[in-house]
Amino acid sequence: MDDDCIPDGWMMDEQQFDELHRRRQAALRGGGEERIESQHEKGKLTARERLEYFLDEGSFREVGGFAEHQRTEFGLADNRVPGDAVVTGYGEVDGDRIAVYALDFTVLGGSVGELVGDKVCEVMETAIETGIPIVGLWDSGGARIQEGVGALAAFARIFALNVRASGVVPQISVIMGPCAGGATYSPALTDFTLMVGETSYMMITGPDVIETVTGEQVTKEELGGAQVHASRSGVAHSVGETEQAALDEVRELLTYLPANHLADPPVSRTQDDPNRSTAELTDIVPSEPRQSYDVRTVIRKLVDSETFLEVHEQFARNLVVGFGCLGGRAVGVVANQPSVNAGTLDIEASQKGARFVRTCDAFNLPILTLVDVPGFMPGTNQEHNGIIRHGAKLIYAYGEATVPLLTVITRKAYGGSYIVMGSKYLGSDINYAWPKAEMAVMGPRGAVNILYRDELAAAEDPDALREELLAQYREEFANPYRPAEQGYIDDVIHPGETRQRLVKDLEMFRRKNEQTIPKTHGNVPL
Ligand code: HXC
Repeated sequence: MDDDCIPDGWMMDEQQFDELHRRRQAALRGGGEERIESQHEKGKLTARERLEYFLDEGSFREVGGFAEHQRTEFGLADNRVPGDAVVTGYGEVDGDRIAVYALDFTVLGGSVGELVGDKVCEVMETAIETGIPIVGLWDSGGARIQEGVGALAAFARIFALNVRASGVVPQISVIMGPCAGGATYSPALTDFTLMVGETSYMMITGPDVIETVTGEQVTKEELGGAQVHASRSGVAHSVGETEQAALDEVRELLTYLPANHLADPPVSRTQDDPNRSTAELTDIVPSEPRQSYDVRTVIRKLVDSETFLEVHEQFARNLVVGFGCLGGRAVGVVANQPSVNAGTLDIEASQKGARFVRTCDAFNLPILTLVDVPGFMPGTNQEHNGIIRHGAKLIYAYGEATVPLLTVITRKAYGGSYIVMGSKYLGSDINYAWPKAEMAVMGPRGAVNILYRDELAAAEDPDALREELLAQYREEFANPYRPAEQGYIDDVIHPGETRQRLVKDLEMFRRKNEQTIPKTHGNVPL
């Protein structure tokens, strides 16, 4: 304790000091040495060690460290620990204040009872009232079984606050152990969920319960390991190889987000020249429309210092989303990825894109959209699983966005996917095309087969006729000048001037103030 902080004339006698010290030490021990050791043996840090690593040095201020549950059922009376199964408080990340809570697995498996709920809700409420981000570190068996409906009510209160905080302050969750039940649904209600490679799991209920109820045998990894959620379910936005790597990524993520929905997006100093030419993009994007390339190379060339934080990297890889800066201003980037399924939009890409666009829009982050897309993925699989419903989410997200929307069509933009990807009349503020861009209702082959079906069937040499018709079609649509003449494109620009144009546009639209029609809320297709 720092004696300088204690005012003159207020002296603690030795007994008072010992009592305070004893209670503080008890709180620091959590579930006890044995459980802390077991936590370490599993390759996991404790809740307090995580906060110490995550927050700026010395910035953590704990609240509720002495609180103990008052329950007695099922042996709970003998299982009382100061602070219970969560450490809560406020700290700083790069000097900016945030609210934090870290579930402590060493205390009753980090399970959430009434008191844990009270503590988490208190810091969440303060974060909403004071406009600071909330970061939750989860390592929890979910609702505390011994507390019955009280534990369920605790989660209901946390969920309700997750919803209240949604779009008001950024909420980030990190899954750092085996999280079950409510310990998965609260993170799912937040803006970003990160997991840790080998030691985190998310599941509605664990393997033991599954075997009891359904007879199915499954391991924790197969059921809800980090890879499963990052690449298949899409629940996880990112996976850190270690706990430290995941926490480092949260710190990085926070640098792109404002503290709350009323704050401007972050602006940083950059050494990167806003007028830097991006002429090398001419070589990076092949002119042949079907040739593949990695769009992330294009994004890195455009943003400041080639720094791009991709999120949801392993899920729906045919669409790339993430954060970067242009002239020091944070932006969200959405781009078709021609190297995965030719960049076609499918159900998962639509969900991923819609979610990201809405997150940026909620927190005032302008959106840069890079378009190179052959269309929506055709087929019964997509149709039967609801591509119409899910694709509509992306249209809705762009259509309702009020932040500055800057769109660059780099190569092809066909059909519905042209409209969806931040097109001018869906609401984008600036719509550029590169000279080799082509826009049409569909690709040349599909179009010719439909328009000239009868002629091709009757032709003596259908292949030669098809080639001739394809050439005509390309001449009509394989350049951006018709759409520019008709006002669908604001300007045709050289790839080399893309960065400087975007930096200037961002500056111009920074104060954009689009009014929305007052209503209870829109009805986003879910
Ligand atoms: C009370 C719990 C607990 C819980 C774990 N523990 N989960 N105590 N309530 N929900 C205790 C264990 O009894 C054990 O205590 C200690 O925490 C560590 O747990 P282990 O099982 O030894 O750890 P591990 O093998 O790593 O397995 C972790 C686990 C598993 C996968 C999370 O414990 C498990 O399946 N727990 C139940 C998960 C679950 O179904 N939760 C309820 C979900 S319903 P001791 O003293 O033995 O060390 C819910 C409601 C909201 O959350 C739903 C919203 C839709």
